[in-house]
Amino acid sequence: MKRLFILAGLLVTLLGGCSKLDGPDRCVGTNYDIQFTKNPAIGGVNNGSITVLYPRGDTLKYAVNNGTPQQSPNLTGLAPGNNIVKVINQKGCSDTIHVMIAAYGPKYAAVRQLMIGYCGPCHLNGGSSGGKNLDTDSSIVASWDRIRIRCVNGLPTFMPQNGQLTAIDKQKITDWVNAGHRLTD
Ligand code: HEC
Repeated sequence: MKRLFILAGLLVTLLGGCSKLDGPDRCVGTNYDIQFTKNPAIGGVNNGSITVLYPRGDTLKYAVNNGTPQQSPNLTGLAPGNNIVKVINQKGCSDTIHVMIAAYGPKYAAVRQLMIGYCGPCHLNGGSSGGKNLDTDSSIVASWDRIRIRCVNGLPTFMPQNGQLTAIDKQKITDWVNAGHRLTD
């Protein structure tokens, strides 16, 4: 009789163990090919943002850094650094992705903005006229002197090749260079 109880106890333990495994199991295979766009935090303010482009849907929620899940795929007010974005489905199962938010100084942000306006397609989206691609922050920062010499001084000729920058935009480059030509200036 005693042995029977031990056997029953063992069985309950085994079954209990099994049902415990069932919990996390139901979320196995929750994999989303999460696609997003992001914006840096500018000027020492937590104003970075991430927009989840995929997956989208009425039954999905989005959260960042374990914050409250929200309906909107626009995650705003983010600090620079590593952010963990979570896509949560109807079943409460989720997939996450790590997104690095850069910290731009205001002068760099202005220069970056004018490049997007003027330097494509020759140097942007993979373009590399004259061997110079300016898609990444690191390539812009590393090219600060060439950018100044070509866009402000116009030596040997002005960039953009199809027309000079306005005086205001040239000044943005000069201000950034004088401040130290870093990402954070
Ligand atoms: C319509 C195309 C076009 C646009 C727009 C353009 N460039 Fe260029 N760029 C070129 C070509 C072609 C070369 C190579 C010939 C040369 O150096 O003049 C070049 C070369 C360069 C170089 C490398 C050569 C060097 O002197 O170091 C830099 C840096 C550069 N461009 C900066 C810029 C910047 C910054 C912008 C935007 C503000 C810009 N360019 C806009 C066509 C363009």
